[in-house]
Amino acid sequence: MINPKSMIVSTGSAVPEKVLTNHDFEKMVDTSDEWIRTRTGIEKRHIAAEDELTSDLATEAAKKAMQEADVSPEELDYIILATITPDVGFPSTACFVQKNLGAVNATAMDISAACTGFIYGLELADTLITVNKAKTILVIGAETLSKVTDYTDRATCVLFGDGAGAAIVKPAENSRGILGTFTKSNGNLHYLLHIPGMGTKHLPTHETLDQHLHYIKMAGREVFKYAVTAMGDAAVKIIEDTGLKNDEIDLLIPHQANLRIIDATAKRVNIPSDRVFVNVNNYGNTSAASIPLALDEAIKTGKIHQGSTVVLVAFGAGFTWGSAAIKL
Ligand code: ACO
Repeated sequence: MINPKSMIVSTGSAVPEKVLTNHDFEKMVDTSDEWIRTRTGIEKRHIAAEDELTSDLATEAAKKAMQEADVSPEELDYIILATITPDVGFPSTACFVQKNLGAVNATAMDISAACTGFIYGLELADTLITVNKAKTILVIGAETLSKVTDYTDRATCVLFGDGAGAAIVKPAENSRGILGTFTKSNGNLHYLLHIPGMGTKHLPTHETLDQHLHYIKMAGREVFKYAVTAMGDAAVKIIEDTGLKNDEIDLLIPHQANLRIIDATAKRVNIPSDRVFVNVNNYGNTSAASIPLALDEAIKTGKIHQGSTVVLVAFGAGFTWGSAAIKL
């Protein structure tokens, strides 16, 4: 019997108003609604306005989660923000969220783990609470991937969207809580999915801009293969580690990158489609925001509720991958 140390007490999410449909992309690049739907499951995605930043979406999602749990800004001990689209080089985007919220007592930090970022953040929050370093932690996954997407590259531009999801994590009560987390990475394969520019390796010059080094580059077919294996492995690992039985899992929430990867992951752990959460059709791949956006939507639409057992699983650039089992 697992004795959880921390639990998610509330969630919130935010997406930009503007939407791009597959039909909009038919006018921008050589693609079709049919190709995008059958190869990825995506139908539309939300796109940030020019002046809308990752910290803005993160703040909106955080305020909703804080309101739901009746948590004041002063109560926050840590703000852990997972993103690969920070507002600026430094300081961290979490510091901007701290300023926006007035969370004067918090330690604010970013995590860069791409699509697995929220699970990395949950693991850290769970550990901080377990060792009594914190009582109230805000974990956020937030992205404005549209700002680093190459809208001339049909192989990537149709995939990504913007959004944010947040959770308040507190000490566990009544056997509710985070039952286990698992995280892993493999830096040897960094070049299969990355933004080569934007850092100190290729400082921005006319040449790097002409070469589109400030945009996402992905070897899609390779990434797909690793994602299917790693997400399946991560789901199996957390189910084994926590001793959960198949029929005890109320909902599997996989990272929302591609419906075929989601289906393969569910098949690997033998969870039928009515217990698998899918919203990739409405949001595309929102990287670190994907899992918390899905978790919030699953709760708000009544698919899961207090007492439900949920398995989260993700894979992303790095490569990074991980999973978590939670009793809400
Ligand atoms: N419209 C039409 N045709 C296209 C498009 C498009 N938008 N994009 C690619 N194609 C073409 C290709 O050019 C190729 O044509 P060819 O056979 O003439 O060369 C053909 O379609 C097949 O291309 P593939 O890349 O092999 O297509 P695939 O079935 O693998 O699907 C996809 C591509 C959707 C990108 C898939 O590989 C995928 O989902 N990869 C994983 C993405 C992912 O999970 N990322 C993880 C995390 S993201 C993060 O961390 C930020």
